[in-house]
Amino acid sequence: MKRALVTGATGFIGYHLAKSLLAEGVAVKCLVRSPSRLAELSESGVTLVRGDLLDTSSLNEAVQGVDVVYHLAGLTKSVRRGDLMEVNGQGTRNVSEACSKLGNPPSLLLVSSLAAAGPSMGDLPRVEKDEVSPVSHYGRSKRAGELAVMDFASQVPTTIVRPPIVVGEGDRDAFQWFQLIQKLGIHVTPGFSDHHYSLIHVDDLVSALMLAAERGSRLTGRADDDEGIYFAASDEVLTYAEVGQLIGKCLGRKNTRVVHVPLWMIWALGLGSDLWACLRKKPSIVSVDKSREAAAGAWACSAAKIRSETGFQPAMSLESRLRQTADWYRQEKWL
Ligand SMILES: NC(=O)c1ccc[n+]([C@@H]2O[C@H](COP(=O)([O-])OP(=O)(O)OC[C@H]3O[C@@H](n4cnc5c(N)ncnc54)[C@H](OP(=O)(O)O)[C@@H]3O)[C@@H](O)[C@H]2O)c1
Repeated sequence: MKRALVTGATGFIGYHLAKSLLAEGVAVKCLVRSPSRLAELSESGVTLVRGDLLDTSSLNEAVQGVDVVYHLAGLTKSVRRGDLMEVNGQGTRNVSEACSKLGNPPSLLLVSSLAAAGPSMGDLPRVEKDEVSPVSHYGRSKRAGELAVMDFASQVPTTIVRPPIVVGEGDRDAFQWFQLIQKLGIHVTPGFSDHHYSLIHVDDLVSALMLAAERGSRLTGRADDDEGIYFAASDEVLTYAEVGQLIGKCLGRKNTRVVHVPLWMIWALGLGSDLWACLRKKPSIVSVDKSREAAAGAWACSAAKIRSETGFQPAMSLESRLRQTADWYRQEKWL
């Protein structure tokens, strides 16, 4: 029986991954800060290991006795900029280092982000060999995590998957699109140009992660080499406005009004939201850092490489996936 460690299983993507690994008959261990948040999974047979990415002794213990480490834990947003680099950069280095100390290190699958690579050039989807140019603190912290695992690539067989925006059951970030469209029938679009975006549904991402861990090539350790790095995305590349209109259709709305908001207003909203986040000590997806990404243009990537090297294929169209997600939000009374 295969044995895997999942970090970040109390989060959106990690939870879906842990469930799918269990369903595939893998013995799953999860590194968690608060075990109470995984009650459902622990009842179905997951082993919980209490730990933190910044506590190296807990990591040394957690990585023992597994064949694969799926490293998803990280911060997608933060009140303090330094926390992003600490958790996504140093925390990831700690995971790689813990693996490297073992006589027979497990393979490591790092979930990075399209943000680590940066926006796409013009409206051409990014490919793995394009030069990286992250524009946000988040993107730079995810790139720091990539560089950290490259340092251990000669000891730890490592593969990186960079997803774009991930949608699906349980997600609270892209949920805000669904909420606004359902309640007000509007889709707020940053700026007056309508750039292209890639998305992926969490179930398709989970299958991409499992395939990449099993069949993907490994990093060579050279920062300018794209071997062992994959984008994973749905086939469809849509403009930001089209994303909103498709969500509207999946929610059963006849019309979704695309509201273009000037970029200065996006920055102002980000600033206001950051101040509010500081007061509440709770980060928000609306922030100056996310405004940097919103102002940077297109965020599209090509999944051609992961398809040809691992056989990855999204199971359904993006429209079916968005409908599945909308149905779940309704069932769970989020909408
Ligand atoms: N969601 C997206 O659209 C998207 C897109 C591209 C890439 N990604 C990447 O995918 C990964 C998972 O994202 P997600 O959306 O599932 O995030 P999420 O829902 O915010 O979950 C983050 C997870 O990381 C854990 N974590 C945070 N800091 C930790 C620490 N110091 N030690 C141990 N665990 C820690 C959290 O644990 P607690 O429950 O204890 O807080 C949680 O389980 C991240 O690396 C993210 O950068 C996400």
